[in-house]
Amino acid sequence: MAEVSKIWRIIDLLKITEGLLKEKGISSPRLNAELLLSDTLNTNRMDLYLNFEKPLQESELTEFRGKIKRRLSREPLQYVTGKCGFYGMEFKVGPSVLIPRPETETLIDVSLENIRARELDNPKILEIGTGSGCISIAIAGKINCRIDSIDTSNDALKIAEENSGTNNTSSKINFQLKDIFRDVMDFSGYDIVISNPPYIAFNELETLEPEVRDFEPLAALTDNEDGLKFYRRIFELATKTDGKTSVLLEIGDGKRANVENLAINMGITNYCFYKDLLNIDRVIYAEIW
Ligand SMILES: C[S@@+](CC[C@H](N)C(=O)[O-])C[C@H]1O[C@@H](n2cnc3c(N)ncnc32)[C@H](O)[C@@H]1O
Repeated sequence: MAEVSKIWRIIDLLKITEGLLKEKGISSPRLNAELLLSDTLNTNRMDLYLNFEKPLQESELTEFRGKIKRRLSREPLQYVTGKCGFYGMEFKVGPSVLIPRPETETLIDVSLENIRARELDNPKILEIGTGSGCISIAIAGKINCRIDSIDTSNDALKIAEENSGTNNTSSKINFQLKDIFRDVMDFSGYDIVISNPPYIAFNELETLEPEVRDFEPLAALTDNEDGLKFYRRIFELATKTDGKTSVLLEIGDGKRANVENLAINMGITNYCFYKDLLNIDRVIYAEIW
């Protein structure tokens, strides 16, 4: 007798996938199941519920199973789907770039506010550690500007360039392979230097979720030291610059005191902090000269 293959409807798959993800301790299992399935079916979450009796084709099932398997191994959802939303735009992501975080949107808001308040017309911006390009691209999507965006990862720069193309900002951003510790860096000529640097201290790596620790690029997460190495270098380069340099840097949760002490010890007195939507000190703005 011919074997009758089971029919899997959207509603069945959501339920079973939610259970599997929950068992593995993955947070927001239902949302993950919905996003993986809508990505497989090239639809949105709402459509899943409008068509919840619909059975999947064999090829769709195979693709979906592959995605669940990856997610069950704790690979981040955004790497499995290959995309991430940030500041109302869509970005391609993969294992060579940090997944853009919602809290980094504070850095964009503060940067745009700063540019407006200083009445900078077509400002020249340097972004250190661009990764997926999300910061530069979000800013360039909003204003006239010229941005030099650097990173040490060639693979990240390729993704950033692609993201800049799909978000129509290519004419405003110049991506460059550069290392702020090894290459000659000169901040003069830039109205603002922006960065979300790798700020996790080496000894904090073990406290991270497996999705982050085991999948995101180590060079994007940690400085392999005390979490302050990039701030030290950026402040040092800024103090060496002729004229005034304005820097806007993201900081980690609970790191305000460390960054503030460092700034004071380096003779920087004109600075302030901005909070994110969760009321966490998230960005330092310093004017250095
Ligand atoms: C925390 S990630 C930020 C990525 C992106 N800007 C974002 O906010 O999602 C830091 C980035 O700095 C880059 N990086 C690490 N060391 C660097 C260095 N010495 N010079 C320049 N960039 C560096 C990493 O490759 C990574 O892309």
